[in-house]
Amino acid sequence: MIDFSHTAKNMRSSEIRRLMKLAADPSIISFAGGMPSNDLFPIAVVDELYNGLDNKTKQIALQYGPTPGYPPLLEELKKYLISRGISLEGQELIITTGAQQALNLVAKVFINPGDCVVAEYPSFIGAIAAFKSYDAELLSVPLDRDGIDIDALKATMQANAARIKMLYLNPVFQNPAGITYSDERKKQLIEVLKNTPYCIIEDDPYSELYFDDADMQKCTPLKTMAPDLPICYIGTFAKIFGPGLRLGWLLGPKDIVDKCELAKQSMDACSSTFTQVLAYEYLSKGKLAPYLAWLRPIYKRRATLMLDALKANMPPGVTWTIPQGGFYVWVTMPSSINATDVLNKALAKGAAFVIGNAFDPQGVKNNTMRLAFSFTAEEKIAKGIAIIADAVRELV
Ligand SMILES: Cc1ncc(COP(=O)(O)O)c(C=O)c1O
Repeated sequence: MIDFSHTAKNMRSSEIRRLMKLAADPSIISFAGGMPSNDLFPIAVVDELYNGLDNKTKQIALQYGPTPGYPPLLEELKKYLISRGISLEGQELIITTGAQQALNLVAKVFINPGDCVVAEYPSFIGAIAAFKSYDAELLSVPLDRDGIDIDALKATMQANAARIKMLYLNPVFQNPAGITYSDERKKQLIEVLKNTPYCIIEDDPYSELYFDDADMQKCTPLKTMAPDLPICYIGTFAKIFGPGLRLGWLLGPKDIVDKCELAKQSMDACSSTFTQVLAYEYLSKGKLAPYLAWLRPIYKRRATLMLDALKANMPPGVTWTIPQGGFYVWVTMPSSINATDVLNKALAKGAAFVIGNAFDPQGVKNNTMRLAFSFTAEEKIAKGIAIIADAVRELV
């Protein structure tokens, strides 16, 4: 018999990866994948940027690069982070192969088997999987519509003080809950974190995707508000350019990020130089701002259609969050309903979503579902939600 490592034995197939396959089936209206629809990618910009490169840069693009990242991209990214109010003093920046790798790197350099990671409930499935792959024990703290429950956080920290290594937070347009921490909650959180020795991961893929300019201020990173906290700030090009670039970044205290760089060396030596060159051109030629300005109203329309359809179709007793940006709506059903039963019924009629227990750090609670509005064409949203609502109604 093959004797796999403990890590491999603990690996479970991700519900999301399984469901991503469904998103590719054109007969299914899928709210499962947390990704943009293909028609939203800036392909004309990519053509223009690539065709504008000289041969020397094209050669660099096809070559290995330095582990921390393509130097011109690092410089451009620093300017971008400063423009978002983030101080780089005492901080180090590296490019990673997606935000997912950044999560993995921080987990790798901090977690010994049995160490605790405090995560929100619900929490991003990819982060849960990364922490579990290092045998972390996950402690979850509930979210309400304004952010993490501060009293529950304090109680969890007090009860497990010696075992906690890290806190994992996604404060803006949270995946999967769709909520954003209020200013007040962020301030309370910063007060609590001031007195803790733990590494704090702030995962921030969506904060540029607010629906209304008036909400921009709500998207301010914790990293901006609390420059003295040991925050590892993780970002990605996945939602502001394309996930296929596989480019993210990690900005954090120098000693932490230096260790992560060492860990990265043995993982992939460097992230794709080819896509880093494109990302550099994209930022330096000012392509990001106009793309986002075009994208925001599209996602807002998709979200509005989804919320309207939920209101029109869901039976009493079902509630959902109202996002102000990002990709997700989180639906809570009566506790007697199992989301897997709803999914099976919905799939049979042609609609998909991700069941809630995929996002429970304990993998238990399942009367919830995540609906992503980012992937689905406007004309299909109402129909897909009606199918899911019918499935819920059959089970109430
Ligand atoms: C909260 C969060 N973190 C990290 C990631 C992973 O991003 P990337 O595609 O850059 O690896 C995602 C992707 O959906 C996400 O939602």
